[in-house]
Amino acid sequence: MRIRKNVWKLPAGDETLSWYEKAVAAMKAKPIADPTSWRYQAAIHEYNRSSDPLRQSSDVLPSTIEQRQFWTQCQHGSWFFLSWHRMYLFHFEQIVADNVAKLGGPADWSLPYWNYSEGPAFRALPPAFRDPNLAGGNPNALYVKERAATANAGSALGDDSDVSLDCLTAPDFENLPGGVPGFGGPRTLFHHNAGIAGAVEDVPHGTMHVRVGGLGTHPGWMSSFNTAALDPIFWLHHANIDRLWEVWIRRDPSHQNSTSKQWLKGVTFQFHDQNGNVVSMKSEDVRTINAAPLSYTYEELADPLAVAPQALATVQPQPSARAMPEQPIPELIGASRTEFDLEPTTTHALVEVRPPTGPARLSALAAPARKQKWVLNIENVTSDGHAPSYDVYVNAPDASNPQAHPEHRVGRMAMFGLTESSRPGLDHPGSGLHYGFDITKLIDRLKAAPAWDPAKLRISFVPVGGETEATGARIKIGRVSIYAQ
Ligand code: C2O
Repeated sequence: MRIRKNVWKLPAGDETLSWYEKAVAAMKAKPIADPTSWRYQAAIHEYNRSSDPLRQSSDVLPSTIEQRQFWTQCQHGSWFFLSWHRMYLFHFEQIVADNVAKLGGPADWSLPYWNYSEGPAFRALPPAFRDPNLAGGNPNALYVKERAATANAGSALGDDSDVSLDCLTAPDFENLPGGVPGFGGPRTLFHHNAGIAGAVEDVPHGTMHVRVGGLGTHPGWMSSFNTAALDPIFWLHHANIDRLWEVWIRRDPSHQNSTSKQWLKGVTFQFHDQNGNVVSMKSEDVRTINAAPLSYTYEELADPLAVAPQALATVQPQPSARAMPEQPIPELIGASRTEFDLEPTTTHALVEVRPPTGPARLSALAAPARKQKWVLNIENVTSDGHAPSYDVYVNAPDASNPQAHPEHRVGRMAMFGLTESSRPGLDHPGSGLHYGFDITKLIDRLKAAPAWDPAKLRISFVPVGGETEATGARIKIGRVSIYAQ
């Protein structure tokens, strides 16, 4: 059984990363048409010939049929996000391990993970990835120039909100119909990339992509779908996201993956193994990490949010299977009137909310004891360029400085994949990125204050670039809407 280890806690003298470096160099030496090559592996995520930074006129690409079957398969804004990336990582790990073994390394090489949520020091890119050259002077295959300057400088990237583990508290795997993110994401077709991302996909996944990649007119590879997997750190980032999925499952017996047949068996994904043979998998095959066909585990799977045992006793849910309860139909109770630009400074949108008159009113009448949810949706975020993450605030008292009121912050929008998602084509509908935030608790507090006026809800967007350079890109929001459910 492979054991994936914490990259920041590898013991002195450990060779996991030096073998990774050698294997990556070997994979980079192979031509792009070889399924076990570095560029082919990255193209599985997404490939765009015109923006391929490693493009050579001498490249011999796989046939169009093969490209359509195996490339540009990444699943985002989808309930397949976790299962597809798990399969992707698993096959990549087999290929790297095969290279390691052939180069004379250990037979049980495993992909390490980057757990950036343990404090500022852990948010720095691990040293083995930062130096252009190895100790002996040869080029370092783990180094990538196209990253945020702060990443290669070894600074702590981003802030606590970029690596927040709030996603672990999401009770459901699937998003709820009104747009409340579940841990995993929204029910979609294959390749949808048009839904509201699940909680873990937004933070820390998307936020850390953008922090490593950075912005600017030539943003780093980690900021875009079609270049992200060319950066060797991509795989350690995703090993951590994959680990968090297992942590989420273990930390609460009521946390369950989708039991829908559509999720379990609805889509078959195809990859290549280390010998170049085609392997097919469905989500149901990758629910258990430490059994065939996967057979790996993580060094740490304990709950990072664990509370004292006495407190736990009172909140411990029944381990009985938690059937996805019938969700009331959400009703739109307010929306911004026109699309608007997100400025490089704080931007506000006003939303007039009216009391529900349709399904949300009826379900409130039918079940008066049930708590009605308010959900904020940010729809159709598009751009021709790249954007920093934005924090979203509701009714922050000081409009010019919402950051002074963290209690009004409802979440962070990670802009990973913004450009690709905005471009309609074969692979993306072009509708941009979408976010959902459950704002019920905040609204309850606002309602209790004398100044509460539902006709004047103010949603504020604050860029959290920090080290980011202004991109000059125009970022548009299609609509801000509020649903009652
Ligand atoms: Cu498919 Cu982190 O991305």
